[in-house]
Amino acid sequence: MAGSRILSMGHYQPSRLVTNDDLAAIVDTNDEWIRDRVGIVTRRIAEGETVADMATAAAGKALAASGLTAADIDMVVVATCSSIDRCPNVASRVANKLGIAAPAAMDVNTACSGFSYALSTADHAIRAGAARNAIVIGSEKLSDITDWSDRSTCVLFGDAAGAAVVTATPDGEEPGIGPVVWGSAPEKADVLKIEGWQPYIQQEGQTVFRWATTMLAPLALQACERAGIATEEIAAFVPHQANARIIDGIVKRLGIPNAVIAKDILESGNTSAASVPLALSKLIERREVPSGAPVLLFGFGGGLTYAGQVIRCP
Ligand SMILES: CC(C)(COP(=O)(O)OP(=O)(O)OC[C@H]1O[C@@H](n2cnc3c(N)ncnc32)[C@H](O)[C@@H]1OP(=O)(O)O)[C@@H](O)C(=O)NCCC(=O)NCCS
Repeated sequence: MAGSRILSMGHYQPSRLVTNDDLAAIVDTNDEWIRDRVGIVTRRIAEGETVADMATAAAGKALAASGLTAADIDMVVVATCSSIDRCPNVASRVANKLGIAAPAAMDVNTACSGFSYALSTADHAIRAGAARNAIVIGSEKLSDITDWSDRSTCVLFGDAAGAAVVTATPDGEEPGIGPVVWGSAPEKADVLKIEGWQPYIQQEGQTVFRWATTMLAPLALQACERAGIATEEIAAFVPHQANARIIDGIVKRLGIPNAVIAKDILESGNTSAASVPLALSKLIERREVPSGAPVLLFGFGGGLTYAGQVIRCP
């Protein structure tokens, strides 16, 4: 069975920059607390743009960089948990705006692990012969579902989108997207919720923190093992950007001595399903990872869900 690889990436962030001091003007918080406990310095907040608008902007950049055209794309998968509209899905909106004529178009909601789920869904479709070229997107407008009077959550999130163009690898060529390790802890479903009509994100932060720092490193290592990649070979680690202390805790347990560690949380906050493709796209843009080098992706979040895989840097 042929595999697939990422051809190109693109990302989009809204222009409005919100600092910790800006938030201290509306809730009882301060720059020092946010930097110490979470590691965030700034985040971007959308004004007037929708999840689909940001997804389209990121996907358009990825498509332009891929050498393919809209006519080549036969699948669009969007990971999101913050789209307000239930139907049509975001993928259909993106396809229409980009002029992609008749793709399989679906949204995937596994909250912050969404991009890795969506990437493997596209990889599996390509392996099965159900698609040849896919656009995979993570896009979130978390500002729409944030309670701006709740200091325990409103300091954490940002808006953004990141996208990848995925294509079939020729027979005999090594796949560029490794086997996924995915799963969930459904007994903890209620610790992170975006529930009901006109909902806000609510979470038991410490429970999520403990789960992420104790349970995830062995699962990320499984993704390396299943790809046949030694930890020393990992050139970059792009985990979900929820908290700099969570990233440090996972990295300490992984033992990936030669990896660049993505820490986009500093400038972008937690952008849920957008955080992994956003951080990866920036690493590639800054040429911090050589083309073809193995990169470990690992998402985790609401559900509680997780997913990760080793990819080859486009
Ligand atoms: C949310 C998180 C940053 C909170 O950090 P924490 O160290 O657990 O902080 P706590 O919730 O224990 O709160 C500690 C104190 O800070 C206060 N506090 C909470 N938010 C604050 C803020 N924005 N500014 C200042 N003080 C704040 C609390 O009220 C509490 O005060 P108290 O000791 O007087 O009661 C942390 O738990 C976390 O990152 N969890 C993971 C969440 C996550 O990643 N979710 C998304 C998963 S994808």
